[in-house]
Amino acid sequence: MNLRIMEKEDLPLIAEWANNPDFGGEYEPLEQISRKEVEKWYDNLGSEEKWFIIEKKDGGKIGQIFHAPRGPHFLIGYRLLPSERNKGYCTEAVRIIVDYLFLSKDIVRIQADANPRNIASQRVLEKAGFKKEGLIRKDVYVRGEWKDGILYSILRDEWKEPKILPKTTS
Ligand SMILES: CC(C)(COP(=O)(O)OP(=O)(O)OC[C@H]1O[C@@H](n2cnc3c(N)ncnc32)[C@H](O)[C@@H]1OP(=O)(O)O)[C@@H](O)C(=O)NCCC(=O)NCCS
Repeated sequence: MNLRIMEKEDLPLIAEWANNPDFGGEYEPLEQISRKEVEKWYDNLGSEEKWFIIEKKDGGKIGQIFHAPRGPHFLIGYRLLPSERNKGYCTEAVRIIVDYLFLSKDIVRIQADANPRNIASQRVLEKAGFKKEGLIRKDVYVRGEWKDGILYSILRDEWKEPKILPKTTS
């Protein structure tokens, strides 16, 4: 598995994924977005918000993961093609992003939120060392209802050292 920074050439695929309700799954908001809107979104991304394509070793594109600033902290999120779930790819991707953020930025906390019924997403976070913090009331509007979320975080003190990325290049 490899993480590659999203490029402009990826935008048609990003639009295709965004418009596919199965890609987001039952706990994510429904979205229909035109190519033009995706390009505008891409052009307006802040310098600290990065989106990555999750690729298999054979180059197949199977999902996305992002990090974005939340005040002095960072938020992450992820989605995988249904056919590639439950093979450990997202846990590996989250471990890499956590290593990358703590190695590259002077931050103390990374957070994520998941629907309480989204067991797969919560397992991913727990396996990657995140801890459950509590309930976020009326977190996100999904399919006609405001849903609560569960907030997870990992602190630099708990991470301690890189799990996948090397600390030095020497
Ligand atoms: C959430 C998601 C990204 C997880 O990706 P993934 O690559 O399948 O995750 P992993 O394979 O690394 O780990 C999934 C874990 O959840 C477990 N799991 C999955 N579905 C489960 C269920 N219904 N009940 C219990 N455990 C479940 C798997 O067994 C695995 O845990 P294990 O290693 O202890 O066996 C993927 O399901 C997805 O794209 N869902 C739709 C989008 C989404 O919900 N994104 C997150 C929004 S917060």
